[in-house]
Amino acid sequence: SWQYSLRPHYLKEYIGQQQAKQNLEVFIGAAKLRQEALDHVLLYGPPGLGKTTLAGIVANEMNVSLRITSGPAIERPGDLAALLTNLQERDVLFIDEIHRLSHSVEEVLYAAMEDYALDIVIGKGPSARSVRIDLPPFTLVGATTQVGRLAPPLRDRFGVICRLEFYKPEELVLIIQRTATILNIAIDVSGAMEIARRSRGTPRIANRLLKRVRDFAQMAGETFIHETMAASALTRLEVDSCGLDRTDRKVLEIIIEKFAGGPVGLDTIAAAISESVDAVEDVYEPFLMQQGFLHRTPRGRVVTEAAYRHLGLPLPQEVSHHV
Ligand code: ADE
Repeated sequence: SWQYSLRPHYLKEYIGQQQAKQNLEVFIGAAKLRQEALDHVLLYGPPGLGKTTLAGIVANEMNVSLRITSGPAIERPGDLAALLTNLQERDVLFIDEIHRLSHSVEEVLYAAMEDYALDIVIGKGPSARSVRIDLPPFTLVGATTQVGRLAPPLRDRFGVICRLEFYKPEELVLIIQRTATILNIAIDVSGAMEIARRSRGTPRIANRLLKRVRDFAQMAGETFIHETMAASALTRLEVDSCGLDRTDRKVLEIIIEKFAGGPVGLDTIAAAISESVDAVEDVYEPFLMQQGFLHRTPRGRVVTEAAYRHLGLPLPQEVSHHV
C-alpha cells in the first residue's frame, strides 16, 4: 500500500538514529559475509520512531523475508511454534510489543532464540514426553516501548540492543521533504521546519501532520506549504509551538491544577485524564520529560517551572524556591 511505500526500505534511505544505523550496518554486513543469520535484535524507544521500519530494513538488507506479529497476538506456545516452523533460513521474525508476551510463550521463545529449537511437550501425566524440533537459524527482531518490563532472561538473549531516540528537527525536515516528494506535496524549507519543530521528535507524527497541513493549504487555495500556512494549520490542529498536543497539555494542567504541581502517581494522572497508564507512560511522559516539562521523582511525577511558563500559568511559591 502507499502507506508502506512511505517507509524507507534500506539503511541508506533511513534518516537519523545515526548510532543504531551505523551499528546495524556493521552487524548486518558481517552476518552476510559469514552467510549466517543476524543475531537477535531488540529495538526500544517511544512509539513512532521507526522500530517496524527498521525490522523491514533488516530483512531487506539480509535479502530474506519478514514476518510481523506482536506480543499480544501470540496467545499460546502453539501460535509461536506455527510462526517459527514456517520460517526459512535467516528470515526475520518481528515481534512488536514483545514485553506483552505471556510467560508460557516466553519460555518456548528462550530455546528458540538460543538453540534454534522448539521444545514441545506431547501428552499429559506420566506418559508425557518432550520432543525437540530443530528450527532454521533465524533473526528475532523484538520491539518494545518499555525495555524495563522485559524479563531479564529474554532481554539477555538479544545480541544486538538498539535504543531509538527522538529525532532532531533537522532530521525531521529531511523526512518531511522525503515524504512530500513521495506524496507529491509542495512545501518549502521553512514550512517543513515548522512542521518538524512541532512533531514531538517523531516521524510518524511529522508525516501525519504534513498530510493534515496539506489539507488546510489546499482548501485555502495555497499552491505550496510555507511557514505561516503550516503554523496556522498546526494551531488549528491544537498542536502548540513546542509540539504539545491537547493531551500533553492536559497532563501538565491536571498535575498543576489538581495536585499543586505534584508529586503525583502515574495511575492518578492516567485516571484524571481518562487515558491508560500505558499511554501515559509510553506516549506522553517520555516527550514531556525530554522537553523538560516533567520530572520523575521517587514520590511521583512533578511538573517543572518550564511547564508553568509554557502554559502561561503563575508559579507557585514552592516551585520558584527550588528551581
Ligand atoms: N519515514 C519515517 N521514518 C523515517 C526515517 N527514519 N527515515 C526516512 N524516512 C522515514
